[in-house]
Amino acid sequence: MTTKHASATPDLPLDMIIFGGTGDLSFRKLLPALYMAHLHCNLPPDTRILTIGRKPWSREEYINEFMESKAKPFIEKKAFDSGAWDKFLSLFEYVRMDVDSIEDYERLKAVSRPGVRRVFYLATSPDLFTNICDNLAAAGLVDGNSRVVLEKPLGHDLASAQEINVAVGKHFSEAQIYRIDHYLGKETVQNLMVLRFGNAIFGPLWQAPYIKRVQITVAEEVGVGSRAGFYDKTGALRDMVQNHLLQLLCIVAMEPPVSLDPDAVRDEKLKVLRSLRPMTPEDIARDTVRGQYTAGAVNGEPVKGYLEEDNVPPNSHAETFVALRAYINNWRWANVPFFLRTGKRMQKKVSEIVIEFSELPFSIIPSGGRNYGNRLVIQLQPEESIQLQMLAKEPGSGMHMLPVNLNLDLQQAFTERRAEAYERLLIDVIRGRLTHFMRRDELEAAWAWAEPILEGWSKSGERPRGYTAGTFGPAASTALMARENAVWAEESQ
Ligand code: BG6
Repeated sequence: MTTKHASATPDLPLDMIIFGGTGDLSFRKLLPALYMAHLHCNLPPDTRILTIGRKPWSREEYINEFMESKAKPFIEKKAFDSGAWDKFLSLFEYVRMDVDSIEDYERLKAVSRPGVRRVFYLATSPDLFTNICDNLAAAGLVDGNSRVVLEKPLGHDLASAQEINVAVGKHFSEAQIYRIDHYLGKETVQNLMVLRFGNAIFGPLWQAPYIKRVQITVAEEVGVGSRAGFYDKTGALRDMVQNHLLQLLCIVAMEPPVSLDPDAVRDEKLKVLRSLRPMTPEDIARDTVRGQYTAGAVNGEPVKGYLEEDNVPPNSHAETFVALRAYINNWRWANVPFFLRTGKRMQKKVSEIVIEFSELPFSIIPSGGRNYGNRLVIQLQPEESIQLQMLAKEPGSGMHMLPVNLNLDLQQAFTERRAEAYERLLIDVIRGRLTHFMRRDELEAAWAWAEPILEGWSKSGERPRGYTAGTFGPAASTALMARENAVWAEESQ
């Protein structure tokens, strides 16, 4: 699939139109990110931000009830500047709308300026995407300069994702559609591309048999919080694996793209997704683990189990943890297992990719090291770091070796401010840069691989395994690794 790109248009005045403008994502991420973009002069000079919600608020009420009380606390204290904030607030209009009611779009039309670039950010449930796009188009609000940003999860399964893609595609060309996965906006994820493709030394080693195994972990300390209504229907596989973890896997596993053009990068990611070995019912039973947290303690504080959280149905089967072993059926990765793991209420917040290189073929140094394999550890969160674990000689007369880290200290090397993922991606949308967004075929390939796992679990009727909040998941996850004499990264430290 190739995307026909609109020719580079000079910066037009911008109307950023946010559906779901009174929701969680808006106050936690989008509005603070837009504030930072404004503070650093990254919004076009003539920008307005139109937020849409159902609440019968006036503009002033929106500013007081939402911007001041909810969004402002999410702005880093040291970045807050009251002059810039006041100016930022002056860009806002609040539009009360029922997004299913076509008449209400006239209200939006009355506020959005003609001849500007309209960016529609759909931070709503995906069930509403189709109606919103149809109604926008019917009201004459979509033109060649418009762009639409679609939040994840895009659909619930392959069929619903396809339906949404078709519906949105009726009004927007592929080059106007930005399917966002905020993991692609993280600095370290983008840095991984530079590490792989900007340095020659890893190239020859970046494949089987030199790489033995890859681990990708996204562990969170938080629980479901106030999002049970969404989360219970979604679960960790749809919420995290189908998108964030698979995107990370793609960046680790893809072939060098011919350039950084959006389609060049996305073509390579698509090949990876299409090469994922489909899981049979036996694979699912053997190679996947799903869990649900039970009461425990995180950071020394007692926390509830998932079933006790607000708005969670008493017998919910929603998984809050997934670990699985995946394979990529191609020459580069034949028989290299990719272990993916994510969970809520885990022992600590950590997102990392661990590339485990193969062991020494033979060791001439008798004091150890025979089974030693180097590891490249790319940590995305809580700190960004890249470390290469190697053996070095311990000072002294013997030849004793100890593992030490070759540490790429990015914080020290670059003192510049690092933009948050949403800020970076919003700026990409405004500037028309699609490289870090998912193309339609990529998204569908990810669903095509994930869906049988969901079906397999649902057919089995089994409950997810319980794990105590504050641990790294059910024992079966450790066992998944132990079967091949391996351990998860935190157990090898
Ligand atoms: C979101 C998920 O996409 O990513 C959330 O819906 C999850 O459930 C969040 O908490 C994690 O993002 P980050 O950037 O905090 O790792």
